[in-house]
Amino acid sequence: MLGLYGLAALAAQEVDLAKAKAQFLSSCGVCHTAEKGGSNRQGPNLHDVVGKPAAVRGDFKFSEPLKSSGFTWDEATLDRWIEDAAAMRPGTTMAYRQRDAERRKLVIAYLKTLTEPK
Ligand code: HEC
Repeated sequence: MLGLYGLAALAAQEVDLAKAKAQFLSSCGVCHTAEKGGSNRQGPNLHDVVGKPAAVRGDFKFSEPLKSSGFTWDEATLDRWIEDAAAMRPGTTMAYRQRDAERRKLVIAYLKTLTEPK
């Protein structure tokens, strides 16, 4: 379910949730789930990832390049990561690039709706 926090995040960005979710599923869904408690696939579950440090999800075996990155997944960092993960951290096991800024924006908007209130 989409919490109030998520709704507010969406309203602020004027992004269509159905469209944002569909974009996540088509761009990332092969390798990632994002719902709370979702399983890891080739990549880790991404629930509540926005604003969090990289590679701290204990039940996933992250690569050394990501573990030593010191990244925090704010929107700008996520945007660069999705645009070209390997360019950002050579040796990462995430083989993915998304050159379309509009698609990246939709995906990030969707992930923001899955942020847990503090
Ligand atoms: C081909 C599979 C694949 C696709 C497609 C993919 N990822 Fe990943 N992702 C991974 C893998 C594998 C990792 C672990 C990377 C590492 O440890 O270096 C990862 C890691 C991540 C992380 C770091 C999570 C953390 O806790 O630090 C984020 C954020 C992420 N992916 C977002 C996305 C988003 C958003 C998309 C879609 C736009 C996407 N990924 C598409 C495989 C994929």
